[in-house]
Amino acid sequence: MAQDPIRDESPQDTLNTLAEELARHDALYHQLDAPEIDDAQYDALRRAYLELAKQHPDALPIQGPQTRVGASPADGFQKITHAVPMLSLENVFSTKELADWVEGIRNFLMELRDPSIEIRFCCEPKIDGLSCSLRYERGELTSAATRGNGVEGEDVTHNAKTIADIPQQLKGSGWPDILEVRGEVYMSDADFLRLNEEQDRLGAKRFANPRNAAAGSLRQLDATITRNRPLCFFAYALGEISAPFAKSQSEMRLKLAEWGFTLNEPAQVCTERNGSLSPLQDFYDLLAARRSDLGFSIDGLVIKVDRLDWQLRLGFVSRAPRWAVAWKFPPEQASTQIEDIRCQVGRTGRITPVAYLKPISVGGVLVSRATLHNADEIARKDIRVGDSVIIQRAGDVIPQVVSVQLSQRPANSVHYLFPSQCPACGSSLRREEGDADTYCPGGLTCPAQVQERLSYFVSRQALDIEGLGEKNIALFIEKGLIHSPVDIFTLEARESSWLDANGKTIPLLKYWDGWGPQSATKLFDAIRRAREPSFERFLVALGIRQVGEATARLLGRHFLTIHALLECLDRALSGDEIASAEFLAIDGIGESMLKDLLDFRAEPHHREILNALLNERVLPDQVTEGPLLRVKDFVPPDSQSPIAGKTVVFTGTLERLSRSEAKAQAESLGAKVAGSVSSKTDFLVAGPGAGSKATKAAELGVRVLSEQDWIDLMHTNPE
Ligand code: IVH
Repeated sequence: MAQDPIRDESPQDTLNTLAEELARHDALYHQLDAPEIDDAQYDALRRAYLELAKQHPDALPIQGPQTRVGASPADGFQKITHAVPMLSLENVFSTKELADWVEGIRNFLMELRDPSIEIRFCCEPKIDGLSCSLRYERGELTSAATRGNGVEGEDVTHNAKTIADIPQQLKGSGWPDILEVRGEVYMSDADFLRLNEEQDRLGAKRFANPRNAAAGSLRQLDATITRNRPLCFFAYALGEISAPFAKSQSEMRLKLAEWGFTLNEPAQVCTERNGSLSPLQDFYDLLAARRSDLGFSIDGLVIKVDRLDWQLRLGFVSRAPRWAVAWKFPPEQASTQIEDIRCQVGRTGRITPVAYLKPISVGGVLVSRATLHNADEIARKDIRVGDSVIIQRAGDVIPQVVSVQLSQRPANSVHYLFPSQCPACGSSLRREEGDADTYCPGGLTCPAQVQERLSYFVSRQALDIEGLGEKNIALFIEKGLIHSPVDIFTLEARESSWLDANGKTIPLLKYWDGWGPQSATKLFDAIRRAREPSFERFLVALGIRQVGEATARLLGRHFLTIHALLECLDRALSGDEIASAEFLAIDGIGESMLKDLLDFRAEPHHREILNALLNERVLPDQVTEGPLLRVKDFVPPDSQSPIAGKTVVFTGTLERLSRSEAKAQAESLGAKVAGSVSSKTDFLVAGPGAGSKATKAAELGVRVLSEQDWIDLMHTNPE
């Protein structure tokens, strides 16, 4: 995870930092199927963001996580715009949070304010896979798309057609002409284990968990790969439909099953009345107990208001529906022993201590390492080699040590001594006052940092050079053929004069062990293609602190070319305040981001690398892309409605609609809801007890509607 949210920063800067960080993790998770943090850490980061956002709504980044779902579709796939956006779910972690959510529903739908009126909830397992939207026209599968950023997804039609659970032609009858079925593509635990064994056999990278395996298998440009991966599909929701065919979620499930879909079971309708959540709690307990023998990974349950008319009225808040929530299970834990603690050196020189564990299965995944974060974390928990520890993983990649079982500590155990020298290059490690992290100052003289930086430079989120993974980077470094990013681009031209450290000729790549003419050509082709990266990828590849995909995009849209960006940075570095102001005027770029950009630019080493790349004509494209879509932009309010563009004020007591529902309705029909009556007001909706606002409306000649008039205008019957 990133550094602590910066000290002494404005809320806007902190929000930007957190937003950037969340965007990076979103991209790692959704686009690259390679998360760096676990779900609990992600949730904590998101909560920190939302908490601060609540306190400083004026400082929100326009493209903040409050509006975003997932990440933009990856390059290489055709894009599909979802007819109805694919959103995410809010999480709850306790019965208290669940009760608050139910209370919110009861407040939103006026008639449910009477606690004795029951609400039926359809409760289903929350499968840990990736969501997919299938479009059927007259019963025939016409397209399949991943969620992408919620607005646009990746076209995976050819891949979806290889999945046995996905009917290409619907069975039975009665389906609407247009039917979008949404659900989860996932891999069963047994298939996941088999796939990883197969990956081992092929010397390929293992998948961290079934979710990553499913995502990596579905998001393949080559459908023959997907065909050979054992994917399954559960149907659980709808997108666009040309005609309604069920009154409730549970009825809809039955229809989907009739038409040939597999449902996520066990599911159950649980009723809440008079504040009693015990039926829901019982189902939670049942699922938790059956979790390990379901045969597929689940990370909680999804609780959905069963009545579809209520779902419709409840609608959405920015990225998630009001009518459904995910009730997450606590992370899975297990006990094992620490066999060793070793320090890893990251791309920026940051030292991460890692516990090497006696391998143990946690929720079906074999775990042999856990991150210990930093020196303080080790000291705080007094973690020692030989200790028995509780570790946990939460549908994630990096397990953590939760606690030490002191009663089992061996008598001869000693405190862990954090190294004072870099394990890779021997430099004396540094730790700044007030910083939790320790760094190796070796930079590009430290082999571990060179390896990490170069691996990052070519990785999927950066220049994405296929065939040049960590292993091959290590190989080229070891042979002394690459030291700096530009060397990658000159590899082929230098091939006939490659020499090793002793001045001996190194043979052509095609003659190396495990290589041949085809793989050598393929690699050089991939390197050549990477010479014209997008602006964003190029900037991300440079590895500037805090500059991930989202910031790179902001900078790209402002400066359009890398030269314009560098020129402005140089001016800012020479003290030109107008240049600094130009950065800060970009919505989403704050002081701390600018500082990191300037620090990067000021470092002579980075200048050299950049100049070398530009001289070698590794040139990013000019940016031509327009502004990003947001879910809000995509679901334009209904411009045909009688109240589109009008300003509405509500006053007095509404008896059938809650204020929130009335406001949400008005906004979805393109109206603006104001707090006070003025000459700009078009309608005043007045319930009993309307006071000064009604008088003012009468004075100004504003049209006054009763609640019933309003409901008629909305054409919705809240009954
Ligand atoms: S319903 C409007 N039902 O969880 C959102 N989602 O964390 C409708 N998921 O994006 C989603 N199991 O990928 C729904 N039974 C289930 C689910 C489920 C897993 C996923 C889905 C969603 C994510 C949100």
